[in-house]
Amino acid sequence: PRPIRIALLGCGTVGGEVVRLLTEQAGELAARVGAPLELAGIAVRRPDKHPELPPQLLTPDPAKLIESDADVVVELIGGIEPVRDWLLAALHKGKSVVTANKALLAECSGELSEAADSSGADLYFEAAVAGAIPLLRPLRESLAGDRITRVMGIVNGTTNYILSAMDSTGAGYAETLDEASRLGYAEADPTADVDGYDAASKAAILASLAFHSRVTVADVHREGIAGVSSSDILAAQKIGRVVKLLAICERVTAEEGAESVSARVHPVMIPRAHQLAGVGGAFNAVYVEADAAGELMFYGQGAGGAPTASAVLGDLVTVARNRVLAGRGPRESAHAALPIRPMGQT
Ligand code: NDP
Ligand code: HSE
Repeated sequence: PRPIRIALLGCGTVGGEVVRLLTEQAGELAARVGAPLELAGIAVRRPDKHPELPPQLLTPDPAKLIESDADVVVELIGGIEPVRDWLLAALHKGKSVVTANKALLAECSGELSEAADSSGADLYFEAAVAGAIPLLRPLRESLAGDRITRVMGIVNGTTNYILSAMDSTGAGYAETLDEASRLGYAEADPTADVDGYDAASKAAILASLAFHSRVTVADVHREGIAGVSSSDILAAQKIGRVVKLLAICERVTAEEGAESVSARVHPVMIPRAHQLAGVGGAFNAVYVEADAAGELMFYGQGAGGAPTASAVLGDLVTVARNRVLAGRGPRESAHAALPIRPMGQT
């Protein structure tokens, strides 16, 4: 069969691991997809800084690479513009897109989904929330027949790494943030992590999928951890609690029966006996509550190159297989059925 050609946009912490897995597992991936996966090109900002990659594949021009004969675009650059334009162009041309870009999805997933719908392309983004943990597919697919009432948990690895270190070793905030950046957990601009923007983007994506609504990052109440001091951590310890940054997305039913969606991100003091208290390092854990399923818990590595690449590869196998079988993945069904409830209203 004809190879499925991949345009890889970005080859940093996550993209580098995607290339490694594509290379090391080429045979197994081809068997799973039903056709070989072949890199059409790799777009990076500075090709001269990538001696580890085949020079004939490198380009500094993502738009041109999208115009090539690639079937699938894997976007691992990050940020909103110009990535939004590139991905819309790819989807309008009928090229499937796999992305880990939560900032973009939390602002314009509606526009991207509509572009995918209009051309019949796939849009997959499992890696955008909670790293390696399969979470979006369960919300989109496995739980599609249930009524989800709540999604709540730790969705940012960097801040969990910092808070866990402050709690267990008394380490300082700044040095732990540097360590999280060195380990590839933090965003290019780590204020996105510590000020809660990254978790708020993920909360918007989770709420959109869980409640079949269209929640954007602007709808999410956000507080980060910049204001959490060592004395706050000590005060929590004295009363048997630990500080965690939580994302909480809920379906809210008013007395008269009207329903809406509430999404918020803020530090919470939780009892040490709670399962979320034991989630350390860059791990993530998310509870999902649904009427029929009851309570489910998802746990695993929430950040870092290899864990995130695992989720990207899973999506890539799916969209490539859909190409081979001329099939299509699940649709978003984001019909904005529920209004968004601003934080503070009960
Ligand atoms: P990096 O900063 O490590 O890599 C970014 C890559 O994009 C680099 O290869 C860079 O090129 C390239 N790039 C940047 N701007 C351009 C441009 N204008 N044209 C072409 N290439 C460009 O980021 P990460 O790998 O950490 O993250 C990538 C995406 O994945 C982001 O959306 C992030 O939010 C998301 N993500 C990251 C996770 C993580 O744990 N790191 C986890 C989940 C999602 P060059 O190498 O030349 O600088
Ligand atoms: N910066 C993000 C985090 C990467 O720390 O969780 C994973 O999305």
